[in-house]
Amino acid sequence: MWAVLVSSQQINISYTMQDTITNAKKVAGEKAAELIRPGMVVGLGTGSTAYWAIQKIGSMVKQGLDIRAIATSEASARLAGDLGIPLTTFAATQHIDMDIDGADEISEKLDVIKGGGGALLREKIVAYHSRQLVIIADEHKYVPVLGKFPLAVEVIPFGWEITRVKLESLGCKPELRKKDGKIFITDNGNYIIDCAFGTIKDPAAVNAAIDDIPGVVESGLFVQMAHTVVLGFEDGSTKILQR
Ligand code: 5RP
Repeated sequence: MWAVLVSSQQINISYTMQDTITNAKKVAGEKAAELIRPGMVVGLGTGSTAYWAIQKIGSMVKQGLDIRAIATSEASARLAGDLGIPLTTFAATQHIDMDIDGADEISEKLDVIKGGGGALLREKIVAYHSRQLVIIADEHKYVPVLGKFPLAVEVIPFGWEITRVKLESLGCKPELRKKDGKIFITDNGNYIIDCAFGTIKDPAAVNAAIDDIPGVVESGLFVQMAHTVVLGFEDGSTKILQR
């Protein structure tokens, strides 16, 4: 009986933690959306934090905000479409005013690991061409040093096995990403190799070494790309960090 009580208590506690983390993501996403101004071209990120920013942008558009958006994944494009956010492409526009996207880890120097959701390639293209990259995350993603979260690397399927060996030689434990027992395929038809480094002391050097390997399309390291970070806290408050 006691065991049952304890375990149901634990379940309740973990549900409560999950709710407060979701709330932290929501407040971060909504706060970032408030930075958008009429006429902007906006990058729409991917993931459970970007979801809240896109929801907020959708309600701002419904209230008359005039913007166009570029999505970083098929999933975010579908969500934006459902919410009536007008989408554009790089064929129609050469610049993005503000990109709002999530993160897996953010260092004190505002370097970022992304790609937990597998959208890192389009995310990096959109971020690179944005005048301002606003990263949104719950407080737990802000860490002293990057690397605890495995770094996603997008690779082409041809020769992925030898690409994996080369990634391992950089000092990580690389693992081919799978979903439901099958190889995870990105929106671009590629594979993801998750590289557990433990710590990444020099993100710029690691990013360059990874990019040098033939077969690598892009790494999830966003080095000195974020201009602004909006952190959401479990108590519902937010904090803005600038680089
Ligand atoms: C997707 C990403 C996401 O932004 C990152 O994984 C964070 O996701 P979430 O907001 O769901 O925690 O990089 O490729």
